Order: sequence, then structure tokens, then C-alpha cells
Amino acid sequence: MTPLPTWFANNLGAAFARGQICLLYCHPTQISDGDLELCHSQLTDEERSRAMKFRYYADYVSYIVAHALLRQSVSAIAGVTPDCVKIRRAQNGKPELLQDSVTTPIRFNLSHTEDMVMVALARDVEVGVDVERLDRKFAPEIVEYLCSAEEAQEISLLSTQHQSVAYIELWTLKEALVKASGQGLRVRINEIYCALNLPRLLRSGPLPERPTAWSVWRGHLAGGFAWSVAARTPQAELTLIGAFAS
Ligand SMILES: CC(C)(COP(=O)(O)OP(=O)(O)OC[C@H]1O[C@@H](n2cnc3c(N)ncnc32)[C@H](O)[C@@H]1OP(=O)(O)O)[C@@H](O)C(=O)NCCC(=O)NCCS
Repeated sequence: MTPLPTWFANNLGAAFARGQICLLYCHPTQISDGDLELCHSQLTDEERSRAMKFRYYADYVSYIVAHALLRQSVSAIAGVTPDCVKIRRAQNGKPELLQDSVTTPIRFNLSHTEDMVMVALARDVEVGVDVERLDRKFAPEIVEYLCSAEEAQEISLLSTQHQSVAYIELWTLKEALVKASGQGLRVRINEIYCALNLPRLLRSGPLPERPTAWSVWRGHLAGGFAWSVAARTPQAELTLIGAFAS
């Protein structure tokens, strides 16, 4: 992955300027060795040493591509070089931009899994993203951890095949919400209630603010992935931009 192609950077810059939530995606396995090396060179020493801690090569590659894509995207929006982008962890653990490195109020979040990387970017709006493989298997105990009583009841009426898709979609939606809020999976996600058919929040549980203060989106991507995005704003549009590889 060379620094973002011009068409990609232009689309991203225009959508961001219109106030849209920008969701970027990329398949890390499609990246050449040369471009992976370039991505690696754009990371900080700390990011490089975190990358080395992954046990599986696919996770190592996804991590590197996710963080390089983030740096390249911020660089395209803010007009700084990728290595100037400084990131720190907020008290709750959520990564955020250091505003002395970039003056544009960019909020971001990223998610990486085997062979899929997603980065969400928004202007001054807290955002969260999660992507999971649709064939991910959940242990039966997860139902209690994940689902509100209403969701568990609604999912129990579906066929077995539709149930497993509904669990993944719900998982990504709730994880995107708790990543947008910065709380992460420390909070009781079964107190959150989401509509199954529409991506809509009906009860916010441990999340700050009422359900109407949040916007959520979800979808599937070729290759067997489910994704969700959540933003702490009552109204917004989402633009999906991807996939690129050399
Ligand atoms: C943050 C969390 C939701 C990530 O879940 P995940 O499915 O493993 O990973 P994803 O790829 O979707 O997202 C990881 C990215 O989320 C971001 N992230 C980390 N903490 C975050 C937080 N509190 N809020 C929002 N985003 C966060 C990071 O960018 C991270 O990627 P990085 O480590 O490469 O920088 C989860 O690890 C968590 O809640 N951690 C904090 C609480 C905890 O440790 N609980 C024990 C596990 S149940």
C-alpha cells in the first residue's frame, strides 16, 4: 500500500469536509511485501514493538496495515506527513490524536481482524468501529453476556443459521458503541438494547446519553465480514471507502 492513491485521498478529504463519518477498509493480505515494508516504516517504535507481540503473522500484518492506514488517512485530511501524527491513549484506553500534532478535530477508531482492517474517522464526533468474521463461533454462554432479554427472545425465534449471523451483527454493533464511548468491553453490554432488523439503539444502558444521541450503521463486506460503526451524534451520514491494494 503506497501512500493513499490520489482518488482515495480526495474522496476521503471531500467526505470528511462534508461532515460525514468516513469508514475505510482494506484487505491486508492483498498488500505486497514492498508496501507492507512501507507501512511498517510509517509506524512509531512503540507500534512496531506492539506488532512484534502478535503470535500469528496474519495478526501482525493486520496491525501494521491498520495503523499505517490510520496515519495515512489523518495525513491526507490534515495535510501533515504520516510520521508527524501523534497518538496517545486517553484515560479510558481509547486512542486519540494529540492535537498539537494535528489541528483539525479528527476523531478516529480502528478495528483489525484476520484479513480485514477498518478505520473510522469523523470531524469532532466520537466514533467506534468493529469488524468480525461472519463465521466466528460464539460459545453458548456468550448469549447471556451479549444479549438483553429482549434481544435473546427475538433471536431465539430465528433459524439456527440466522441466529449466528444475528449474534455477530449484534456483537459488532455493541462493540462499536462501547468503543465510541471509550468504555470498551468493561461495561455490561447486555444492558444495551439494539433493534435487530434496523441498526438502531433502543436502550443505552451503561452508555452515556440517551439512545437518540447515537447514530449506528452496520453492513457486510465481501470475504465474509460483518461491520458496525457507532457515532455519538443524533444525525450523520456514513461514507464507505475502500478497498485498495497495489
Ligand atoms: C477495546 C476492545 C473493545 C477491542 O476489542 P477487539 O475486538 O479485541 O479489537 P478491535 O480490533 O476491534 O479493536 C482494537 C482497537 O480498538 C482501539 N481501542 C483500544 N481500547 C479502546 C477503548 N477503550 N475504546 C475504544 N477503542 C479502543 C485500539 O485502537 C485497538 O487497536 P490497537 O490495539 O491496535 O491500537 C477490547 O479489547 C476492550 O474492551 N478492552 C478494554 C477492556 C478489557 O481489557 N477487558 C477485558 C476483555 S473482556
